[in-house]
Amino acid sequence: MQQFQPAIPLSGTTVVVVGSGEEAENKVRLFRTSPARVVWRTLDRQEPVTPDLAHAEIVSGGRVPLGAFRGARLVFIGVEDETLARRLAARARRSGALVNVVDNIALCDFHTPAIIDRGAVTVALATGGTAPILARDIRAAVEGVIPPGAGLLAEAADSLRATVKQVLPAVQRRRRFWEQALRGPAARLADRGDAPATRRALLQALDRFQDQASPEGVVHLVGAGPGDPELLTVKAQRLIRDADVIVHDRLVSPEIIDRARRDALRIDVGKTKGRHPVPQERITDILIEQARLGRRVVRLKGGDSFIFGRGGEEVEAVRAAGIEVDVTPGISAALACAASAQVPLTHRDHAQAVTFVTGQPKPGGEGAHFRALSAPNHTVAIYMGVATAEPTMRALIEGGRDAATPVAVIENGTRPDERVLTGRLDDLAGLVAREAVTGPAVIIVGEVARAAEARALVRAAIEEQAA
Ligand SMILES: C[S@@+](CC[C@H](N)C(=O)[O-])C[C@H]1O[C@@H](n2cnc3c(N)ncnc32)[C@H](O)[C@@H]1O
Repeated sequence: MQQFQPAIPLSGTTVVVVGSGEEAENKVRLFRTSPARVVWRTLDRQEPVTPDLAHAEIVSGGRVPLGAFRGARLVFIGVEDETLARRLAARARRSGALVNVVDNIALCDFHTPAIIDRGAVTVALATGGTAPILARDIRAAVEGVIPPGAGLLAEAADSLRATVKQVLPAVQRRRRFWEQALRGPAARLADRGDAPATRRALLQALDRFQDQASPEGVVHLVGAGPGDPELLTVKAQRLIRDADVIVHDRLVSPEIIDRARRDALRIDVGKTKGRHPVPQERITDILIEQARLGRRVVRLKGGDSFIFGRGGEEVEAVRAAGIEVDVTPGISAALACAASAQVPLTHRDHAQAVTFVTGQPKPGGEGAHFRALSAPNHTVAIYMGVATAEPTMRALIEGGRDAATPVAVIENGTRPDERVLTGRLDDLAGLVAREAVTGPAVIIVGEVARAAEARALVRAAIEEQAA
């Protein structure tokens, strides 16, 4: 560790910023939401005061008088004259302040980290002044996974700490309560910025917890997207990280499952076509059993749970068991594959409608009416359609679709082994057979699929070049 970042409480302190211009303004702005008294000595310039600087007491005058740093905890110096900066830094230090001289690492007691400010919760990132842009990028990535209400939630928890300690004197039980309460409805209310409701929800959680022999569990149905971990939603990432149990399908990539806590229980209920290692009824039983143990269960499904994912059945079963169930959407395969192959699913000139359809109906059940999807200005995105490519193409052509309609088959979309195959409708079955499509694939039928040809040509040229 090359540097240590202490957290300095700001309540009841004074922060002094000396200097004018953008850098000084940025330092003043940094403390906009802090309880510290902020004094901004602009020296000889009159600075325009925008609302985000209005929290500062502005002193405009030529010199920094003796005593200007008395009682200051932090002093920022943003003056161009290095001799002056050095003198001011020495004086501030003698007053007991920690000093930061803008753009002069040698004169600094501390660097200004990139900060994520959530009130009571702050995250600071530092690169030792070596790569501020890198710190900014990391901050953006971290920012995405910190719930907006984290600070408010922490404040509400702090206000109830003594009460909780009194009601739950055993440390273990108290920890379990906080784990449950801070991840329950209170967190969602905090994200909405509703402080009284957040506090109320924590108290209600405490009330319920007292009566509980074992804590309450919850089941989250989470769409994991098509495979590329970058296509997970921010919320999905958070739920996966917080889960006690992950119940996942075959189509969820290992990189995504790896985002779960190391001690989280992982249950693979993956299905492949014609091979159902864990029957659907057993999957719902597992969800219910695990939640009844008071665990946070994440049911992780490829794409979106409500698009050919049997999510509806699982929600119904879990709800019927009296367990809280929550659904987080994911990017469905057709959307992801279309984006990856650069095929617009709708187009003002070519496609006024798009239909997501399955090529595999429920065994013994009614299949999709492909003939009804044969209109020329209609895009058809077929899931699980490789094995039934022959009857599908026949039905579409018999329904009136032009035999020469472009098709694109996107196999393993968004994954490193993605393939985009293109052809015409009357050769769809031949195409998937010749190319031995075995991975999960989406078939796109319609004029818009022509766009994939250009992309496929460029990729083929790149591969040829590399070979
Ligand atoms: C049981 S369905 C699940 C669909 C999923 N719920 C969704 O919203 O994407 C499985 C089918 O989704 C499609 N699929 C899923 N992931 C895919 C991917 N990465 N590339 C292409 N197709 C995919 C394939 O058609 C596969 O047979």
